[in-house]
Amino acid sequence: MLFGLTEKWRRYKSEIVDEFYMNIDDLLVNEKVIKLDDFTHHYCFTRLKHSLDVAYYSFFIAKLFNLDSRSVARAGLLHDLFFYDWRDEEYEGKNHAFEHPRIALENAREICDINKVEENIILRHMWLVTIIPPKYKEGYIVTFVDKYCAARELLMSLYSRSKLRAVYEKAVIDV
Ligand SMILES: [Fe+2]
Ligand SMILES: [Fe+2]
Repeated sequence: MLFGLTEKWRRYKSEIVDEFYMNIDDLLVNEKVIKLDDFTHHYCFTRLKHSLDVAYYSFFIAKLFNLDSRSVARAGLLHDLFFYDWRDEEYEGKNHAFEHPRIALENAREICDINKVEENIILRHMWLVTIIPPKYKEGYIVTFVDKYCAARELLMSLYSRSKLRAVYEKAVIDV
C-alpha cells in the first residue's frame, strides 16, 4: 500500500518535471536565458538558478490550483531577465527594484512571444516593494515564490559563508 502510494507520487512528480521542462524548452536553449548563469543574483546563486527555482515552484503550485501553469513557468523563468549587477557602482542610486521588471519584460519580448498573463507576471513581480499588485492569480504565485526563493538563497548563502568562515578560522588556528 505504502509502496504503491510512493510509486504513484514518484511517477506524478516525474510527469510534472517533464511537463515543466516541455513548457520552457525553447527558452532554456536561448543564449540570453543561458547568459543569466553569468550573473550572481543572491550571493552563492546565479540568476539562472534563481529564475529556474522560481519558475519550477510556481509551476508546481499553479498546477495544484489548476491555473495557467505554462504562463507561470515561462514568466517565472523570465522575470529577472536583465544583464547587470545592481551592486555595481554604476547602478548605485538607480531604482533597481522599480526598474528591472520593465527591463526584464523588454528583454523577454525580444526572445519570444509574451502573452498578457506572462506580461503582467513579469511587470508586477516586485509587488509589496512596488505599489501596483499583479492582475492575475498566477502573478501572486510568482511574486510570493520569488520572495520565498530570495529569502532562502540569502539564508543559505549566510549559512555557507559562516561555515566557510569556521573552516577558515580553524585552519588559521591549526597553522
Ligand atoms: Fe526581480
Ligand atoms: Fe527574482
